[in-house]
Amino acid sequence: MVFTTAKNSYLNDENGVRYIDFLCGAGAINYGHNNEHAKRAVLEYMSTDSILMSLDLHSTSKRAFIDAFQSIILEPRGYSYRMQFTSPTGTSVVESSIKLARKVTGRQNVIAFTNAYHGMSGVSLSLTGNRYHRQSISYGSVTRLPYDRYVDGLDSAELLRQYLRDPSSGVDHPAAVILESIQGEGGLNVASVEWMRKLRDITQEYGIPLIFDEVQAGCGRSGRFFSFERAGIEPDMVCLSKSIGGLGLPMAVLLIKSELDKWRPGEDNGTFRGNNLAFVAATEVLQRYWRDDAFQKALGEKETILRDGLADIAKRYPQKIKGVRGIGLMQGLEFHSGDDTSATIAECFAHKLVVESCGAYDQVLKIMPALTIEPEVLRDGIAIIAKACHRLFADSRADADIGAVAATV
Ligand SMILES: Cc1ncc(COP(=O)(O)O)c(C=O)c1O
Repeated sequence: MVFTTAKNSYLNDENGVRYIDFLCGAGAINYGHNNEHAKRAVLEYMSTDSILMSLDLHSTSKRAFIDAFQSIILEPRGYSYRMQFTSPTGTSVVESSIKLARKVTGRQNVIAFTNAYHGMSGVSLSLTGNRYHRQSISYGSVTRLPYDRYVDGLDSAELLRQYLRDPSSGVDHPAAVILESIQGEGGLNVASVEWMRKLRDITQEYGIPLIFDEVQAGCGRSGRFFSFERAGIEPDMVCLSKSIGGLGLPMAVLLIKSELDKWRPGEDNGTFRGNNLAFVAATEVLQRYWRDDAFQKALGEKETILRDGLADIAKRYPQKIKGVRGIGLMQGLEFHSGDDTSATIAECFAHKLVVESCGAYDQVLKIMPALTIEPEVLRDGIAIIAKACHRLFADSRADADIGAVAATV
């Protein structure tokens, strides 16, 4: 399929066929395709020969974005961070956070979790000749701990505490602990509030930077701007990328507690850090959607529509579907077999819904609609999934039910 145009939650292919988009550029289009407000702001900006590419120089649009982010997002939540504009992908902002944590602590080991996904890079800097740039990295070790509830009855935060306390545990004190509060690629695993708070306490006690990777779960995807907000904690660093810019324009920001900002000039640089169109679009969506709580309230209502619709499907096919996973507009259906997920995705695509899978076995059908999706379009998309499951999995009893399934979603 070759796509040509896109508007909010719809994609159109070159034959004029319309699809509902439950993929949203893997979370890069939270405010919908061609968001009208962001697009207008960008077109207006471009019409005045305003600077487009400013590298690391200051620009008025960058200043406006920083001001908006501070006043609309950080200050009302009581957070205080410096903002570093890293290279614009998710993987680059994660790289920058770990480089900084290793530099500041002088330690190499990093604690990461089962089913984590943080990106695909990691080689380029080791190939660079310049010692000044290379000195801040080391491909030190990673200690992998079980994510929350990965093993029934095992509290991996307590395990970490014990590792740190015991000089013979074999686990070096780490440069950082990095995690996603909701593992997007890992299968829509949601960390509990208690576990996240405990990690915050332990890392504070041992002076270990706690980094939240908000590349996918951030920018409203979880139902709040930051997905860790629900735990009432303040990480030491926060990685943001995909959906900061309102139109899917590349931009990444590393939020850093000021005491950790030990970068020297140019120590962590890159060419595409001054994408002014992204600053303009991002400023517009922050002002448009996050100034008051109306948008967040509407997100909560759509979260409920999605959860109820998915639960209704799940309960009809217990032999195929284990249950509903995730929170916010980042939810999904966990199948017993990845083959059934793939079959459902193909069936949905045939009926004009774009949706993807995640999890170690591709067992989770992951639904990430635009946060701006109209409730009726959300229901239409869920109905396509319901009908796909019906066609693939229904026995004769469920046959009689299909009208009800479609009606309830
Ligand atoms: C949590 C998380 N971190 C990092 C990344 C990497 O982002 P990118 O693909 O922009 O490098 C992703 C991508 O899906 C992600 O979900």
